[in-house]
Amino acid sequence: MKKIGVFTSGGDAPGMNAAIRAVVRTAIYKEIEVVGILRGYNGMIGGHFVPMQSHSVSNIIQRGGTILKSARSKEFMTYEGRKKAFEQLQKAGIEGLIAIGGDGTFTGAKVFYEEFGIPTVGIPGTIDNDLYGTDYTIGYDTAINTALDAIDKIRDTADSHDRLFFIEVMGRDSGYIAIACGIAGGAELVMVPETLTTIDELVQTINQGWRRSKTSSIVIVAEGDEEGNAHEIAAKVAGQLEGKYDIRVSTLGHIQRGGSPTARDRILASRLGVAAVEALLSGKQNIMVGIVNDEITHVPFEDAIHKEKPIRQELIDLVRILSI
Ligand code: F6P
Repeated sequence: MKKIGVFTSGGDAPGMNAAIRAVVRTAIYKEIEVVGILRGYNGMIGGHFVPMQSHSVSNIIQRGGTILKSARSKEFMTYEGRKKAFEQLQKAGIEGLIAIGGDGTFTGAKVFYEEFGIPTVGIPGTIDNDLYGTDYTIGYDTAINTALDAIDKIRDTADSHDRLFFIEVMGRDSGYIAIACGIAGGAELVMVPETLTTIDELVQTINQGWRRSKTSSIVIVAEGDEEGNAHEIAAKVAGQLEGKYDIRVSTLGHIQRGGSPTARDRILASRLGVAAVEALLSGKQNIMVGIVNDEITHVPFEDAIHKEKPIRQELIDLVRILSI
């Protein structure tokens, strides 16, 4: 293999730049040409390729976002779109791909590989931490620290005004961000899509806290919870509480996707970037690189996307025990 392409796709995540840097520099180290593909699959379809040198990735390890830009491509979901992308890659002499993203990115990469056979290795880059085959995804650590910083601040005002806050964090299908923030932020309860916590249980927990003289409370809600979003859940509990709490809702939103990556995310991205190029050059394809128990792993896209990575019950129990 003489020339590879690297791209970021789907929701951006802090640490993607560190991963791009690692991919580019490892390729150069291995004497392989490397091309940046702009705006994910849209750029592949449009042939938006930029040659990358070592200096192209200087001074980006500390930056959030992605210098290659990102997109959620509708056109790549069609066979015609993927065919155009394949033709562009052929024209540019790109023989292998490194895809940095989450489950949507890898679903596209898998179909593309099956149809056109371009060897592809994925690097898990998503704040959601919802991919099987890796303990952590790039961006998760930064996102939980960003959310935690906001939660600590909300706690101050919640305490001053004796308020009950529902704080919504990201995670369409996954409660990883919520559970981490719930434990580290000392929440009363965490509502996650993986487990059913009923409104009755929530009301009971808040009421118990009130009887134990709690004057303010924080509930963390993952955006994908089956009881609804934070506003909907707040509306469902209002009127059922013993305490005279004033209720407020705060949705943290896209702030969780930005910012300078933590040391942990930069190191993870650097390790996975190197591992991905090495895997591609050693003939591995249609797989994602990950880290399990601090060791590099290679997991088929199929498993990364579809196998469950359940939140440990121990973590869910922890919130209940510690909020007593
Ligand atoms: O997958 C990352 C993520 O931030 C999810 O947590 C969230 O549901 C989604 O992306 C938001 O997507 P968008 O940026 O397209 O609104």
